[in-house]
Amino acid sequence: MKPAFSILERKRAGESLSEAEIRDLVAGASAGASSSSWGDAELGAFLMAAAVRGLDLEETRALTLAMLESGEQWDLAADFPALVDKHSTGGVADTVSLILAPLLAACGVPVVMLTGRSLGHTGGTADKLESIPGLRLDLDRAECCRLLDEVGTAIGVATGDIAPADRRLYALRDRTATISSIPLITASIASKKLATGAAALVFDVKTGNGAFLPDRAQGEELARRLVETVEAAGRRSSALVTDMNQPLGVWAGHTAEVRATFEALEGEGAADLMEVTYALCEAVAEAVGQPVSRRRLEDAVASGKGRDVFVRWAERQGADPAWLAEPRFELATVEVPLRAPGAGVLAGVDTTRLGLLLSRAARGSRTDIDYGVSLRMVQRLGDELQEGQELARLYLRREDEGLIAEAQGAFTIDPLADPEKVRPPLVERL
Ligand code: URA
Repeated sequence: MKPAFSILERKRAGESLSEAEIRDLVAGASAGASSSSWGDAELGAFLMAAAVRGLDLEETRALTLAMLESGEQWDLAADFPALVDKHSTGGVADTVSLILAPLLAACGVPVVMLTGRSLGHTGGTADKLESIPGLRLDLDRAECCRLLDEVGTAIGVATGDIAPADRRLYALRDRTATISSIPLITASIASKKLATGAAALVFDVKTGNGAFLPDRAQGEELARRLVETVEAAGRRSSALVTDMNQPLGVWAGHTAEVRATFEALEGEGAADLMEVTYALCEAVAEAVGQPVSRRRLEDAVASGKGRDVFVRWAERQGADPAWLAEPRFELATVEVPLRAPGAGVLAGVDTTRLGLLLSRAARGSRTDIDYGVSLRMVQRLGDELQEGQELARLYLRREDEGLIAEAQGAFTIDPLADPEKVRPPLVERL
């Protein structure tokens, strides 16, 4: 009997797998076609059994570490003991990483981030940054160290050498309806985040209709499991559950979110975007043992130190100095206001739909992204509106009646709604 078969029988029966068994299957996932016992069928069966039966903390830790060890590990905390990292489960207009990194660095807490690409309705930090002329994200360990020494932050893109086993398992999860399994999500995220070797990690787990896991209870469970797993792997961690029932802040889109970053670092950030950013800064600074007060973060904005770090960091990663000296945010030029069809309270925003529409308009049928396509939110949930008042504004490359109608349909106005009841809580600390 193949070893995979007996491991699958045990997981199907709801038993806990040993670390050695989990290492065996991850080694099979890494070996690809050359593994005789762990082919797609066996790995898919494991994923389904894990999704249905669950994985306990020890199994999740073992899966995380085995996936981590399938690729490169940088152990940067050996050189930068207070190094922190932040991960978001993804949303629309989630510009937080771009603001958090320079602010913490300006307060003396070094930050490394290997960021991801846009996926589905969610925007990717890497794609947003690449809208800055010249900026490069292909960092290796040596370059990260140089950047951390010189400016206190390094932001790159996760390469295929980080946790390669996750790539195969993630693709199989997509085919086997097991994407939403909390322990599998945990191991996937944590294995990649642990690879740089930051001393503390903070997770921003989004909840609400624009989140990867819309249900609040599931978001809380994921947040808890991420923290427990990272701590079981020997790193410090904390998590916040934050609202994604509407785009965060004002701007969504690539160039638009870089603009939002500059606005935030110049003291003009939207209140909800700043609140989430500050709360995550505080949580991770506390976790790494270098607490930073709200006052210091606000001072880093008011003094311009955060903006200065952003500019110095971007220049060292190749951004055009002339652009940085005088940033121009070129949005798509066809402006389409979306207006309230009647009087009432803004009671709902279909955030996923808006994210998908932006992605559709920015990509069209091309492979490259039109960075200028964007959305500006004018109203927030709970705002009381008159008929015809502007809800939001699209910036498109061309008139697209179908897309505009779909975007308009993403907003629900209810004359009877209680504004207090439709305003979701923004930040929940676990
Ligand atoms: N992001 C990841 O990297 N992995 C998951 O499983 C889900 C979100």
